[in-house]
Amino acid sequence: MIETGPPWLLAIETSCDDTSVAILRDGIIPMATVSQAQIEPHAIFGGIVPEVASRIHMQIVDEVCRSALSQAGIKVGEIDAVAVTIGPGLPGSLMVGLEFGRGLAYGLEVPLVPVNHLEGHIAAAWLDVDRPPELPAVALIVSGGHTELVFVKAPGSYRVLGRTRDDAAGEAFDKVARMLGLGFPGGPKIEQAAAMVSSTPIDFPRSWLEGTNDFSFSGLKAAVQRLHDDKLGPDEAARMFSNSDVWTPKRAWPNRAAHIALAFEQAVVDVLVHKTIRAAEIHHARSIILTGGVAANSRLRREMQAAAPVPLYIPLPSRCTDNAAMIGVAGAWAIARGDESFQPVDIAPGLRIA
Ligand code: KG4
Ligand code: ZN
Repeated sequence: MIETGPPWLLAIETSCDDTSVAILRDGIIPMATVSQAQIEPHAIFGGIVPEVASRIHMQIVDEVCRSALSQAGIKVGEIDAVAVTIGPGLPGSLMVGLEFGRGLAYGLEVPLVPVNHLEGHIAAAWLDVDRPPELPAVALIVSGGHTELVFVKAPGSYRVLGRTRDDAAGEAFDKVARMLGLGFPGGPKIEQAAAMVSSTPIDFPRSWLEGTNDFSFSGLKAAVQRLHDDKLGPDEAARMFSNSDVWTPKRAWPNRAAHIALAFEQAVVDVLVHKTIRAAEIHHARSIILTGGVAANSRLRREMQAAAPVPLYIPLPSRCTDNAAMIGVAGAWAIARGDESFQPVDIAPGLRIA
């Protein structure tokens, strides 16, 4: 197990809409993490606008970096290596982080370490813990762009057990929130809306894809849309409502959006928990890692914890969503593997974990 890294590592994450810089000591101890989320500028469009995202990264990345250095109490000249996300992510956003990191590494004459964002999400489980997860582990990465079940043999040694066949879980949260007029980003909005009711008569269909570790959320999203638009057929309505008196077309029921949000959240969480636990059992995992933006969801955290047969590692909510501290840990692993590079490094928007 890799427990240390360079004395001072600066890590940069700009793959999507968060501009984040972290300073880590010995590779894995975060001394400062400064993140700036770009919620407002995208909220008016109801989703992330890539051009806007890269432009904002460009405007603020140096200020975010300065704040991180000052919070860590060190000078830029003390940095021993620079780790930066090269993919997967939005090309323009990745380019801003990479060019900023490349410039820093060049000026400081230190190694530039390319990092896979998905490995970063796994590495988040090594932050803020007394004992790191025992391996092998099964990791569920659930974010706005990804839903992947990964077998983690060792840092750097991964096998994808299953992934989504259509929407990522976070993407489904974002789209359903938009449908219900709850705003952006959808995950926290759905969670807040769902918390307004304690139970719901709605029971959305789950896509189990039996015999696989894959996921699918597009059927669920379509069912939410049909209910929201009052376009359920009688059979579908009967299946969806255990007590079908509750639902009649066009009837306005109190807290309608909250009921739909809760039923949607329950359907997504059920499938994520069931499939992760099954994969952990089949592959004799010694721990389970739940990570990525959707892992900030408290129902998912609670239900995974209740079902986990082995220790469950869930990073703090601020380390589940995109952040540079997790990129720093993955960068330290890469350095230990000898992957740091003085070679030309390019962005890899479609990069996979394995
Ligand atoms: O990991 P992340 O910050 O960015 C990507 O790499 O995609 O994940 C962002 C996603 C968004 O889709 C957001 O709606 C979702 O994570 N998310 C949540 C919650 N907080 C963020 N989903 C469900 N419940 C939450 N509390
Ligand atoms: Zn992410």
